[in-house]
Amino acid sequence: MKQLIVYFSRIGENSVDGKIEMIKKGFTEVLAEKIHAITGAPMFKIEPVDPYPNDYQECVKRSRKEDESGEKVPYLHPFDNLDEYDVIYLGFPCWWRTYPRVVASFIRDYKFIGKTIYPFCTNEEGQLGLAENELRSDARGALIKPGFACKGIEVDKVDDRLKAWLEK
Ligand SMILES: Cc1cc2nc3c(=O)[nH]c(=O)nc-3n(C[C@H](O)[C@H](O)[C@H](O)COP(=O)(O)O)c2cc1C
Repeated sequence: MKQLIVYFSRIGENSVDGKIEMIKKGFTEVLAEKIHAITGAPMFKIEPVDPYPNDYQECVKRSRKEDESGEKVPYLHPFDNLDEYDVIYLGFPCWWRTYPRVVASFIRDYKFIGKTIYPFCTNEEGQLGLAENELRSDARGALIKPGFACKGIEVDKVDDRLKAWLEK
């Protein structure tokens, strides 16, 4: 069974516990690295061609625009050997209660028939929100397993819960 970690995470200003802070390493990236340390699965980062702005308000504006337009968000480095993998850990920050549109754009480009997806996410509320349901329609053919979610600022406190989730 071959496993892969696919994730998106953003660097820049973010709202952390209601305060705007400069983030040098995205919370979801930290979580992806923890999953990598436990599983040994290779990591692949989804990167938009036009990076999301560092400025929090600008990023909010852009992400809202993307939500409204429903247009594909172009990303760098298409993944050419997804077929080799059976299990995909899919990581993202929760944006507007689901995954960012660049992640949706990536998922919609691939076929997931016979693959299992384990979503993982960081956010302000610690929930997966609408993401699991949305994945069921975006990742056609995949088996979507219950995901893992935690608050961004708590990412260094969830090791036991993360291990338990991965062992299941
Ligand atoms: C555009 C935008 C929208 C967001 N929407 C939500 C949301 O709906 N619910 C939530 O709990 N957090 C929301 N957040 C907070 C992020 O999910 C949270 O800061 C996350 O841990 C960031 O992960 P990252 O550092 O890997 O990018 C939003 C952040 C941004 C920038």
